Amino acid sequence: MAEKSEKNDLMEKIVSLCKRRGFIYQGSEIYGGLAGTWDYGPLGTTLKNNIKNIWWNMFVDMRDDMYGIDAAILMNPKVWEASGHVAGFSDPLVECSNCKARFREDHLLAEFGSKEKIACPSCGKKGTMGEPRQFNMMFQTQIGATEGSISYLRPETAGGIFVNFKNVVDSFHPKLPFGIGQIGKAFRNEIAPRDFIFRVRELEQMEIEYFVRPSEWEGKFEEWRKAVHEFNKKVGIPENSVHELEVGDGDRAHYSKRTIDFEFDFPFGRKELYGLAYRGEFDLSSHEKGSGQNLKYLPDGEEAFLPHVIEPSFGVDRTLLAVLSSAYTEDELGGETRSYLKFKPSVAPVKAAVFPLLKNKPELVAKAREVYTALKKEIPQIVWDDNGNIGKRYRRQDEIGTPWCITIDFDTLGENPELLDTVTLRHRDTGEQERVAVADLANKLKKGIEA
Ligand code: GAP
Repeated sequence: MAEKSEKNDLMEKIVSLCKRRGFIYQGSEIYGGLAGTWDYGPLGTTLKNNIKNIWWNMFVDMRDDMYGIDAAILMNPKVWEASGHVAGFSDPLVECSNCKARFREDHLLAEFGSKEKIACPSCGKKGTMGEPRQFNMMFQTQIGATEGSISYLRPETAGGIFVNFKNVVDSFHPKLPFGIGQIGKAFRNEIAPRDFIFRVRELEQMEIEYFVRPSEWEGKFEEWRKAVHEFNKKVGIPENSVHELEVGDGDRAHYSKRTIDFEFDFPFGRKELYGLAYRGEFDLSSHEKGSGQNLKYLPDGEEAFLPHVIEPSFGVDRTLLAVLSSAYTEDELGGETRSYLKFKPSVAPVKAAVFPLLKNKPELVAKAREVYTALKKEIPQIVWDDNGNIGKRYRRQDEIGTPWCITIDFDTLGENPELLDTVTLRHRDTGEQERVAVADLANKLKKGIEA
């Protein structure tokens, strides 16, 4: 019990820091919010972009076998019929007969153990949950002015990849194995959005469909399994907080011979972070039937066949929450307790803050502006801060996870001639300070960001 409330406490601290410091706000907050939606503020947006850029760089730009696309969110509804989402993308919904609140039955069963033991999480009554019905999670929308012409907001980015498989093959003639990657929004009408940005109705995914010869799937699956861990390392999610769960025969989709859920120790428990699935030829064969188009791959001198698919699927919001909760640290520094975000410099939304020691000394301010302007040209995620005293500035920058603070003082101006054109560089995690030549600053920071 004590452990549970400590974890809730941690989550509350993270949510409150995110709001206070401009990472994440409740969606439509001034109108009372909209359940399952969150708005990323200035720092959250940069953090999210940094995570997405690391993913794109690692899985698209740096590889010869990957193609990146950006498909439309609205698609022909036949796509979702062929993929099985219209018929089967649903969760079991139950309603409390007393207070009419609705829940996912599988979540209640996981919490209470059996149907008889369920007490309504909203009104507390027992024995009030009705029979489950399947609730389709796709958001429907009308297309154009013609009534009855409906489509859906895509529930996953994967659909856009499969329908462009033939386009990419025809434009680029890639050799197998190769993959198509996409980052973008997806929408799910979750029955019970919860746990901050963990389960939301408007989410973002980073997905890859990797096309292989049927005989090589096992080796390639293994390569992607390792790649998932490498990505985690790059964004600062510690290896020991991620656990692979082999999804058993009964729980896997019928067409999948292997699926791994990567689970993370979130403050509210161990929950799915990403998925890695071997999907065989299910998707291309379904879209071949649905569209009537030939989606077979024709290698030189061989017969045409449908490639098989390995799908690593990453949630952006869950990655960001795992990065945030891994980074959240409380310690004691200089006799004071502090909370700070120990971000890897590569994901940190602010890489360094530049301060004049005193803001009412024009010569200090001018020199600090000069250093700031030159640095910002090389490393754009640098900020200017001259509010309050140095101690307060450090606390503020620590709290948002800024790895370095740079102070321009009278020695920079030559009060001590030996220190002319040097600054104080302060390190977030240790509070240690060193004197660094202005001329060396950009390279030193760049090395730290790449590490
Ligand atoms: N194309 C496969 C697919 O979409 P999924 O397991 O349904 O598989 C993949 O979703 C990932 O998307 C999840 O592992 C998670 O990171 C993220 N995700 C799914 N639903 C989500 C939601 N409601 N809120 C936040 N992230 C979600």
